[in-house]
Amino acid sequence: MRKHFLRAGALVVSLAALLGWLAYTRFDFFVPRLASEEGVVVDRLLRVHFFLIAAIFALVVGFAVYSVWAFRRRADDDTPGAAIHGHGGLEFLWTVIPLGIVLSLSAMGVRDFLFLRRTDADLTVQVQAQQFSWGFVYPEYDIRSPELVVPTGQRVKFELTSLDVIHSFWVVEFRIKEDAVPGMTTYAYVTPRTEGEYRVRCAELCGSGHANMYAPVRVVSPEAFDAWVAEQQAAQQQAASPVARGEQIFQQYCAACHTLDGSPKVGPSLNGLAGRTTTLDDGTTVTVDEAYIRESILDPQAKIVAGYPPVMPATFGQALSEDDLDALVQFLLQAGE
Ligand code: CUA
Repeated sequence: MRKHFLRAGALVVSLAALLGWLAYTRFDFFVPRLASEEGVVVDRLLRVHFFLIAAIFALVVGFAVYSVWAFRRRADDDTPGAAIHGHGGLEFLWTVIPLGIVLSLSAMGVRDFLFLRRTDADLTVQVQAQQFSWGFVYPEYDIRSPELVVPTGQRVKFELTSLDVIHSFWVVEFRIKEDAVPGMTTYAYVTPRTEGEYRVRCAELCGSGHANMYAPVRVVSPEAFDAWVAEQQAAQQQAASPVARGEQIFQQYCAACHTLDGSPKVGPSLNGLAGRTTTLDDGTTVTVDEAYIRESILDPQAKIVAGYPPVMPATFGQALSEDDLDALVQFLLQAGE
């Protein structure tokens, strides 16, 4: 019996050592790049879990594999084998040890949760989610932006809202994910620490454009952030031509579902609209003019182009200011063949 325990024990220890070594030296292979202070804490928890799981896996699989081999039925042996009854000591251990592990993990989880959710912040960014786009507002600087730009070393508070359905704000390199829920404001806190280009993805199935619902993220130095803020403020004061503004709005709000190159996506391509004759799903035709474009943005279900699903959200009247809507219509009127 002692012989079996020693052999099985050696197998378990080797397996645990191999998995532990892999987790220790190849951890970066298993997780995405890390770009926030909060992520350091999340990755530390993940490491602890990985080591524990490796140890338990080795214990269970090591003993199981050894037993299958060592205690297999021999060709000349038809006896039923020894009957084994309870073992007080073992049962005590396999109750107390897992209990200790689970309680320690809970304590670490609470400690890290409190660290992640503490409410101090250097910068506020309002995140507006809607089918199928992200918008970012910097209330301290009076800036709206289709890309998220944040400086290293400052704790950013994200205030998340949704205009329509539940979306989920997820930047995997920050190691945070938080739902954006209509009718309420939710929060996430991040201290970016690694400059680079990342992506906000939507992590909640929210409709036909869900897979295309992402926005660029740039983590920059504090100096580059100040320069970007100044540039944005200057650009917004100059009030670019309506058509140029309209193109920005198109890229932010429409491009998840519409192209400008003639190819269909979730909805029809929107180039060469002006004067085009379009067939609707009830068989009638309509000539595209400014009023039709405006109606299609504000009340998308009023007329559906034949061959496309009636899935466009009716929230753009809320999302766009009167000026932005005019700019978008002007842009679409002149978007060429
Ligand atoms: Cu928004 Cu998925």
